Amino acid sequence: MAQDADFVQHDKQGEVHVLRLANPPVNTLRTEIRAGLLAGLNAAKAAGAKAVVLIGTGRLFCAGAEMTEFGKPRQPPSLNEVFDAIEAYPGIVVSAIHGSALGGGLELALACHARVAVASAQLGLPEVKRGFVPGAGGTQRLPRMIGPEEAAKIIVSGEPVSAGKAQKLGFVDAVIEGDLEAGAVAWARANIGKTFTLARNRTDKISGQDAAAYDAVVAGLLKRSRGQQSPKGCAEAVRASFTMPFEQGLEKERELFQSLVAGEQSKALRHIFFGEREVLRIPGQPADAKSLPIERLVVIGGGTMGGGIAMSAANNGVPVTIVEMTEEALQKGLARCHANWERTVSTGRLSQADYEKRRALLTGSTDFEGTVGKADLVIEAVFENMEVKKQVFARLDKAARPGVMLASNTSTLSIDEIASATSRPELVVGMHFFSPANVMRLLENVRGAKSSWAAIATATEFGKRIGKLPVLVGNCDGFVGNRMTGKRGPQVEKLLLEGCLPTDIDKVMEGYGMAMGPLAVGDLAGLDIGAAVRKARGTVAPVADAIVALGRFGQKTGKGWYMYDEKRTRMPDPEVERIILDVAEKMQVRRRKIEDQEILERLMLPMVNEGARILEEGVAYRPIDIDVIFVNGFGWPAWRGGPMFWADTQGLKNVRDKLAHYAEVTGDANLKPTALIEKLAAEGGSFASMGA
Ligand code: NAI
Repeated sequence: MAQDADFVQHDKQGEVHVLRLANPPVNTLRTEIRAGLLAGLNAAKAAGAKAVVLIGTGRLFCAGAEMTEFGKPRQPPSLNEVFDAIEAYPGIVVSAIHGSALGGGLELALACHARVAVASAQLGLPEVKRGFVPGAGGTQRLPRMIGPEEAAKIIVSGEPVSAGKAQKLGFVDAVIEGDLEAGAVAWARANIGKTFTLARNRTDKISGQDAAAYDAVVAGLLKRSRGQQSPKGCAEAVRASFTMPFEQGLEKERELFQSLVAGEQSKALRHIFFGEREVLRIPGQPADAKSLPIERLVVIGGGTMGGGIAMSAANNGVPVTIVEMTEEALQKGLARCHANWERTVSTGRLSQADYEKRRALLTGSTDFEGTVGKADLVIEAVFENMEVKKQVFARLDKAARPGVMLASNTSTLSIDEIASATSRPELVVGMHFFSPANVMRLLENVRGAKSSWAAIATATEFGKRIGKLPVLVGNCDGFVGNRMTGKRGPQVEKLLLEGCLPTDIDKVMEGYGMAMGPLAVGDLAGLDIGAAVRKARGTVAPVADAIVALGRFGQKTGKGWYMYDEKRTRMPDPEVERIILDVAEKMQVRRRKIEDQEILERLMLPMVNEGARILEEGVAYRPIDIDVIFVNGFGWPAWRGGPMFWADTQGLKNVRDKLAHYAEVTGDANLKPTALIEKLAAEGGSFASMGA
């Protein structure tokens, strides 16, 4: 084991000692750090230091507990032992915060006598987002410093606050300008001998707390977290701060922490948290694969997607030009982007100055060759038609400088065929954004058969730079996300025929935690799009086709699977029920009551089976890539962990048996368990146990 001294540097500056946390990159509180802090405090005490400053090395103070130590036997000392030593220190212990103090890192700071920070520092308790509650006194100390209602806002949301806000609320004592360590040491020196009441001993902010007022604030905070346990747990823990003595409150916090951290939701959230980092590690990518330098982006097509992609670039400081076919289409496209930003300004989430900066970064042109000639990267977002795309790429290839990468935002077409229209297939990739492209975080980067590592690295790096989470996938119809959801369609049809109404299906999926059920999503996207795809593929969906035949295209026509009022409130429509019953009768399907569990399984299993096929084909590298795609692009709640995680929770033997059963009773050949599921089920394996 490494020496504790490697992890905590001890620097003596007269009466003030400095303990520097040194566990790169984010100073998590691993065992050696905890032990090093304890040893450092003891040594400072023995040397008679009157003040101790705790500070982080590198880019931040401390990002919190070491999550990889969870679920393993706990190594002493615990964080609470370190905190006891801080609180018992004969002098003052001051945390000096830069970058961020998160989770256990902030709890460490809260246990100190005082806290100073640089103005740019962020302080927060994000545990709720990993499915548990702060577990080292944060839910008891913070309310004692700023009041239970303000503390609940921070702890239930998990959102960090700035140093300035923390100072206003009362948990930062001073904001330091200039060098933090020098400033913190000077501040500590000036405060030697002063009395600081430890958070645990304070009652001024909790005495007289009105429980009903607290519950009302919490009810508002919990509205957005339907079905999720950790926000409720956080609210309950903070409530204990004013209904129980400190030690008992800590006990309550510990109980909540332990039960939540062992639960399925926390496992799911951590699976996604680590997964979002894992997807950026691309198997086989050579270490020297370098991204191409990008200073100017050109987007071809200023429609729904082109506009959103251009906004993402401008939002992140990248100069971007939209190329359209006519001046009219161009002005319309630019105006849509401007209006979108103006709406954000009007809600106060974007300042006028930042709006103007973004607006200046976004320009437009109808001069295709002239504009493309100046591009470092081109992303195409014209109509979804192979002939059109090939023409555009042939023209791009001639107009763009040699070495410039050309990406397509196609949602279904073959990247290889598009690349074949150029003389540089190694520099052609898919960059599949999701609508609304300025909002959705997911970016499926599609690797063509000839895409070079430089092109792949560029798609990844540029995606990150414009605020996206890039996941590299292989080339196939629908790529990963849309290909999997597409396989649900036949079961939706069958469920409607056999006994369900749209509300029955959506209710089950929304009850599971999806932002919207599949039929409501269809209405939002436009039912005509699916109908066009079916027509092109020569498939039929009797119920959906009958709905579309009546001009019910979804929200844009005021009617689809549901009817909508002017505010787009969705309501069941008796006409839809009539259509469904009619079609069922014509097809001689006897309707029956279908249980929620069956609905859930028949919607989940086709996706899981297709996901397994995608893994077999190598279109996705790892099961986690699929789960990350669903959480970031398809409204799948992170606390459910994604479709492949769901399959693991059901057990793959069970999944295989259910797939085989539904394949037989519904006659849907797609549900026949894939070879991968057969193999994993036979071995008693899981998706989680698979390597890349
Ligand atoms: P859209 O119809 O809103 O926009 C396409 C724009 O491209 C139009 O403004 C058109 O004038 C312009 N355009 C066509 N040919 C052009 C050319 N040669 N030069 C310059 N401009 C040209 O279509 P949308 O929805 O933005 O889709 C664009 C692409 O994005 C399609 O490939 C689509 O499959 C894909 N996509 C769409 C998603 C969606 O939800 N709408 C999601 C993900 C991908």
